[in-house]
Amino acid sequence: MFRALGSLLFYGRFLRSFSALGFRRRADEWPEFAPDFSGQRWLVTGATGGIGRAVALAANRHGATVLALARDTGKLDALQNEAEHPDRIRPVPADMASIAGVRTLAGNPEIAAGEIDVLVNNVGVLRNDFTTTDEGIEMSFATNLLGPFVLTGQLHENDLLAADGIVINVSSGGMYGTPLKLEEMDCREKSDYDGMAAYAMHKRAQVELTRYWNEQWQGMPAVHVMHPGWVDTEGVKTALPGFRTALKGILRNADQGADTILWLADRRPEPPEEGIWLDRELQPEHEFSFTRKSRHDAEELADFLERCARRRAAEQG
Ligand SMILES: NC(=O)c1ccc[n+]([C@@H]2O[C@H](COP(=O)([O-])OP(=O)(O)OC[C@H]3O[C@@H](n4cnc5c(N)ncnc54)[C@H](OP(=O)(O)O)[C@@H]3O)[C@@H](O)[C@H]2O)c1
Repeated sequence: MFRALGSLLFYGRFLRSFSALGFRRRADEWPEFAPDFSGQRWLVTGATGGIGRAVALAANRHGATVLALARDTGKLDALQNEAEHPDRIRPVPADMASIAGVRTLAGNPEIAAGEIDVLVNNVGVLRNDFTTTDEGIEMSFATNLLGPFVLTGQLHENDLLAADGIVINVSSGGMYGTPLKLEEMDCREKSDYDGMAAYAMHKRAQVELTRYWNEQWQGMPAVHVMHPGWVDTEGVKTALPGFRTALKGILRNADQGADTILWLADRRPEPPEEGIWLDRELQPEHEFSFTRKSRHDAEELADFLERCARRRAAEQG
């Protein structure tokens, strides 16, 4: 009952901003947008569905070669067939939840062929049920956080991220509902699992990781975090059917969800000290005072993820 009321207040607060109403209101003020990504190599995770697919197709249309990462090879073929320049879509079949698999990606021939100008850490799932990967990691933690953390780190270590490039982390407005709590992220027990809370935590952690990478790398490449608002995608349909039914008429389409990613890749602003992008504007990282109350900072988060990844590798032998 309290939870339902909390959700109602939470969604009510953001309705006008995160829905298509907010997008349309802000977009009214924007000049024409005609980016030129010619000669650039993009790596987009989760490139065959929803927002990632819209990013991949638009980047391709505007000149980029897109390394499209997702699991289903049929959907990767479909993406290639649909692209305006199919020769500039390079499928990278991979599972971001498999940490052992992600560790090999820096050696993948498509990825290792040259520097990446734009990395879009887009893949993200909200899992209502507790499931674990073959490596024994809670599925959403592996997919949303540990996999992208390992991938981004490996690409950087192997000099595969262009120093003048950009990394764009796709977070969620859901992160406004939680402070960072490390202990709860590497969940091992079904009874301790709350899918919505876990998702919000991963999305909060992406904001902190953005700060961490900018401090570590000094803007080479620049790292930004954005959230797309509420977008009508398969992910929402599967994970939040009630939310989708209630707001169907005012959810954003995938192109609207992708807009700020493309805009950031074109504009390449200096990484701000804090903030999260929505609709080409920097928004606060906190909307409620309780989410500031975390015992952990960005460095502790990175250290925690490093330890999780190492421990799981050791457990796998
Ligand atoms: N939709 C929204 O309203 C909304 C709101 C806030 C934030 N976001 C964020 O935006 C991002 C994209 O969301 P979306 O709604 O567009 O997602 P989506 O519709 O669920 O699309 C999922 C994409 O990710 C791929 N994928 C899923 N699991 C994967 C894995 N383990 N390894 C590799 N690829 C995987 C899927 O392809 P395969 O199944 O073939 O792998 C597909 O290409 C997420 O980070 C999400 O948290 C979305």
